[in-house]
Amino acid sequence: MTYKVGLLGLGTVGVGVAKILQDPSGRHPLLPDIKIARVGVRSLNKQRDVAIDPNIVTDDLESIVNDPEIDIVVEVIGGIEPARSLILKAIANGKHVVTANKAVIARHGNEIFSESKQKGVYVMLEAAACGGIPVIQALKQSLGGNRITELTGIVNGTTNYILSRMYFEGADFGDTLAEAQKLGYAEADPTADVDGYDAADKMAILASLAFGDRVNLEDIYREGIRSITSADIGYAKELGFTIKLLGIARRAVGKEESDLEIRVHPTLIPIQHPLANIHGVTNAVRIEGDPVGEVVFSGPGAGSGATASAVVADIINVVAALKSVPNQINQLMGCSHEHYAKIAPIENTVTQFYARLLTHDKPGVIGDLGTAFGHHQVSLNAILQKNTIHDGLAEIVVVTQQVSELNFQQAIAAIRQLPTLHSIPTILRVL
Ligand code: HSE
Repeated sequence: MTYKVGLLGLGTVGVGVAKILQDPSGRHPLLPDIKIARVGVRSLNKQRDVAIDPNIVTDDLESIVNDPEIDIVVEVIGGIEPARSLILKAIANGKHVVTANKAVIARHGNEIFSESKQKGVYVMLEAAACGGIPVIQALKQSLGGNRITELTGIVNGTTNYILSRMYFEGADFGDTLAEAQKLGYAEADPTADVDGYDAADKMAILASLAFGDRVNLEDIYREGIRSITSADIGYAKELGFTIKLLGIARRAVGKEESDLEIRVHPTLIPIQHPLANIHGVTNAVRIEGDPVGEVVFSGPGAGSGATASAVVADIINVVAALKSVPNQINQLMGCSHEHYAKIAPIENTVTQFYARLLTHDKPGVIGDLGTAFGHHQVSLNAILQKNTIHDGLAEIVVVTQQVSELNFQQAIAAIRQLPTLHSIPTILRVL
């Protein structure tokens, strides 16, 4: 039996999907049973890098999700609307859905999965987080016997490209971003990537699968990388760290019911950590589970072929499931979470901090800082003062021991009142 796919979108990812399905030789034996029956595009006249029969192409996207002939709708148009409505309509019409749309899943996963459960259809999302890295299926299936205690990831390629170049070339953020935009790595409006929104979407999806509860996107603490300077990268290097935009989700070991900690922010990572050596646009996810221990995945998180690889794997999984048990949902492929995770407020985080401070270069400054930190139970691990920079200002870098976020912020508030302080250009957390 042949299964008919309605492909919504023929952009970078859609073209990649079509190319795999048109060239099944040497790939999975189920591929010849999967046929692209209809393709929905926004613009009919656009030139595309794949040969598609023009008779199956339409700009009436709704007609595809309403077409009784279509078994699986593949949504690769991106953005919130009309993607969300088309997905919901496809589900209402009893169609299985494969999507690469992290923004829709992270914001509207609740209604989408509730509807799909009610209708008994699959909604598959391997491509929605970390493109070609098969981490969703690993979390749903291969690691199913584990209690996951921590998931950390470099889940945004654009920021990893920028931070890698800053690390290796000592370049500034602004120049590197401009060059990344020129090369097509970063969008003209880079907000979603550099301010951490894209990473937060992906962490909402990954954490929800890792920890078994829905995650409210607004509960994720998020900071981007705009404040990172070449000076910070230089100090981090000197102290044995690199700086990455990291997604961190964890539950205190042995406390199954405790609140989840989920945050996205630039993070100093010890150079020997497995995620410290993931450079360029590459993504990586490190999962710690009981009893498996540490598992690390890395690979391309975006791009036509990589994302299409994940989309096609989802289509194959749906087709295989339909062939073996036609009218029942395979529980390993579904998404059965119904409750929302309780996310701990950022103030409860216990971590190390890095701070770069500019002070007036007077005797007793370091003593003042030490007293303010000590007064709020913040112990210091390292303190660096290189040279007086200009206008009588000194640059001082401190790295704390593990301290509570609340105590650290109170210490910083007190330090801001010191007459010897000029400014605190950077505060970062350490992994
Ligand atoms: N903009 C994303 C990134 C790719 O830079 O990783 C798509 O998720």
